[in-house]
Amino acid sequence: MGATTMMAFAVASTVAAAAIFTTAPAVAAGQGVHTSDFGTPVGDNTNSLSVGPSGPLLVEDGRTFEKLARFNRERIPERVVHARGVGAIGEFEALSDESALTAAGFLGGAGRKTEVFTRFSNVVPPRGSPEALRDVRGFSVKFRIPTRYGGGIWDLVGNSLDVFFIRDQITFPDLVHAVNFDPVLNVPNPNRAFDFFGALRGAATNMLTTLYSDLGLPANHRTMNGHSVHAYEFVNARGKRSLVKFQWLSAQGIVNMSNEQAAAVRAEDFSHATRDLYDAINAGRFPKWNLQIQVLPQELLKPGRLPFNPLDATKFWPVDIAPFRTIGRMTLNKVPGNFYQQTEQVAFSPANFLPGSVEPSDDALLQGRLVSYADTQRYRLGNAYATLPVNRPVSPVRNYAQDGPLDTGSTTGDFNYGLSLVNEIFETPDSARFARRRVCGVVAQAPIEVTANFLQAGQRYESFSDSDKDNLISNLAADLGAVTSDLVRNTMCSHFYLANVEYGRRVAAAVNCNMREVVRIAATLDTGLPDGFDAAGVPKGGAAGAKAAAKLEKKGGKMAGAYEA
Ligand code: HEM
Repeated sequence: MGATTMMAFAVASTVAAAAIFTTAPAVAAGQGVHTSDFGTPVGDNTNSLSVGPSGPLLVEDGRTFEKLARFNRERIPERVVHARGVGAIGEFEALSDESALTAAGFLGGAGRKTEVFTRFSNVVPPRGSPEALRDVRGFSVKFRIPTRYGGGIWDLVGNSLDVFFIRDQITFPDLVHAVNFDPVLNVPNPNRAFDFFGALRGAATNMLTTLYSDLGLPANHRTMNGHSVHAYEFVNARGKRSLVKFQWLSAQGIVNMSNEQAAAVRAEDFSHATRDLYDAINAGRFPKWNLQIQVLPQELLKPGRLPFNPLDATKFWPVDIAPFRTIGRMTLNKVPGNFYQQTEQVAFSPANFLPGSVEPSDDALLQGRLVSYADTQRYRLGNAYATLPVNRPVSPVRNYAQDGPLDTGSTTGDFNYGLSLVNEIFETPDSARFARRRVCGVVAQAPIEVTANFLQAGQRYESFSDSDKDNLISNLAADLGAVTSDLVRNTMCSHFYLANVEYGRRVAAAVNCNMREVVRIAATLDTGLPDGFDAAGVPKGGAAGAKAAAKLEKKGGKMAGAYEA
């Protein structure tokens, strides 16, 4: 570790423990009497009770064994993904009144303030790994909503990139196994990852094009945006639902690193992004992000209006059909007082939403996430994880749940069953009911109809400058070039080729692929575009095209889809 980073460490470690989010009294190291875990004064913290100075130890020295037992249990399972992370405390301030779209009180007027706990993370590598790696970054924000704005917790658990590799939750464990360490050698192995991506038949092309662009290696957490990736539903007080996506726009600007710069950072410091964030906060340079929303116009949800499914997490919503608008600002201004108690024990979940105000969409990736997070947190942190200070709301918790391991509640009285003729029960306001909606369809295991696997990857490639394109090709070649299977390399190149012919040719040349084979595989793949649209997502000639074009002209966009409002 260099002199500069040593200094940064010293500064970070002297930050006073923030009492925020902690109900137990803060304990200042070295002040007061040393006690056991039960508060009993300890007379000797360096010598165990033994038979003479060199004899065996006595079991009656309960404190010694308590100290060891507590130590023996210091580790909990790390997060199965996003294990390496850093948290910070801050504030969200609404900059507009969004009550026409959502009944969420904290978004109902400029100046309304909400406490936040935010955690940035790397996705793939384990807890102690270097932060300077090409990877998606997690961007999780826990909003602790004050009672006056309705109370409760909303977690916006997003990523640094605006799309994802897969669109159905059922393949998430396969994705994570493939990109994780080889189960035999326990080392990263691009052969396995690209084998999986190749077998996806193109679904990951948009994400891989983003991940291997400069955006896949942010210089720091402060200098990246965040994205919800999924669509969510805003519901207003009249029950009107609107599909929205969220973006955190960095006020620090976007700064990325090259592979070479990252290697130099790793050689010097495994924790550069943590230090950067905490140094900025400790120096009073509080990082800020603007929360922006995109609202998808209702009429675009009708079939045939968009060349992709707007609930498909492998797709972004182009700004020409859904422009971004700023609705609030987050400022991170405090370093948590204890890494383990707060950053490690914080439990975010897309299932922490606000029924009747902010609800999940039908996105098949998001739907799986609604179950997954609380499930893993019960395992990772235990049954009582919601009662840990960092996970508690600032508003009261009132229900009839009881008992179980580590119950710290202070309920009194004998009424604990929620329905009663003789007892007063807690109110259940209509405003917190789920929005009503009609759902119809055939129950089946089937892929979505419009996959459009290559459309946006091509558009993204075409939007890149010459140097962005050069970096994308060389970043991709660094990993794909290490893949030994010709079939896997050629298949991956066929995906890039279907996105954009030049893109595919350039990657193929960089990783030594057989272009004839690449074109042959490409011909076997379905571009997944709906009738009436050409490969660029533009309405084409013929009856279907004319119909699609006429619909689109009214809207002034270029799109279509398979989702019915
Ligand atoms: C079906 C798909 C997915 C599943 C099953 C899944 C599952 C998980 C699990 C089990 C964790 C660990 C949680 C914990 O231990 O506290 C996690 C963390 C996380 N996931 Fe996902 N994930 C999925 C997709 C996504 C997507 C699409 C995003 C971004 C839009 C995302 C963002 C995150 C973030 C940011 C974290 C870290 C939360 C934290 O900071 O503690 N995940 N995910």
